Amino acid sequence: MIPDYLEEVLGNVASDATGELAGYIPELAAVDPERLGAVFATVDGHVYSAGDVDAEFTIQSISKPFVYALALADSGFDAVLGKVGVEPSGEAFNQISLEEGTGRPFNPMINAGAITVHSLVRSEQLAPDERVARVVRGLSAFAGRPLGVDEAVCASEMENAHRNLAIAHMLRSHDILTEDPRIVVDGYIRQCSVLVTTRDLAMMAATLANRGVNPLTGEQVVAERVVRQVLSVLSTCGMYDAAGDWATQVGIPAKSGVSGGLIGALPGQIGVATFSPRLDSHGNSVRGVSLFERFSTDMGLHVM
Ligand code: DON
Repeated sequence: MIPDYLEEVLGNVASDATGELAGYIPELAAVDPERLGAVFATVDGHVYSAGDVDAEFTIQSISKPFVYALALADSGFDAVLGKVGVEPSGEAFNQISLEEGTGRPFNPMINAGAITVHSLVRSEQLAPDERVARVVRGLSAFAGRPLGVDEAVCASEMENAHRNLAIAHMLRSHDILTEDPRIVVDGYIRQCSVLVTTRDLAMMAATLANRGVNPLTGEQVVAERVVRQVLSVLSTCGMYDAAGDWATQVGIPAKSGVSGGLIGALPGQIGVATFSPRLDSHGNSVRGVSLFERFSTDMGLHVM
């Protein structure tokens, strides 16, 4: 039943060729734009899928809520909230905007916040490569399988990282970052280059929906309190400057990435993930947004 429904909804959006690939990372502009997939992963471990759900792509900004969870778990709420706020900025993901006076990024989902959050992943002060390893291990625990890094996409983004470097230097000038901005941006871009499938993303979302416990491995990846914080921030900041439209039209805590992935987490119910690479003007997947609108309407998933 559910696979038939997913096939039908995918068929309805398949012919929509509007939107553009993410051109600012050359390797991302070279992907097959026709890829399309959707997965539901329930909190009791059932997985339903349709389309290209095992094709790998880089996680990009969908890493941000999960690395925020790791930073909260590692450094504690006070340390993280002291450096990164929880207010929606209503701006684009790569806006160079910091709180007046303090230089604190408004939230962990815009790049300024996510770059800072990356620097806060540590049990004790970790060397940069150990920190990246901890991030990859943490993302893998959310997905329930070992994940790798796409070196070509990583190198391609590093060569074009002027804007993120500018943001990181601003953060360093305000002492929000306390180490070499180039090293933090390098780690953040490796974090964005972790390879996932649509199925992985659904499991990661289902782990959030399941109070931090991966429904397949049974591992408690982060504490329930951390998950509550992440879902709250996703509700208000997950879709950047489209957050208001998303809240009213879809109403599911969600996160998008410029490679075309989109996740939503419904506490106590399911994790949902879609993949389609062409993006709208906000950097959100065009067909992914359409799919979520359908899922929300058809199944009454609107919770916000
Ligand atoms: O920081 C960047 O530019 C990317 N690596 C990630 C951006 C992203 O996915 C934004 N989401 N829509």
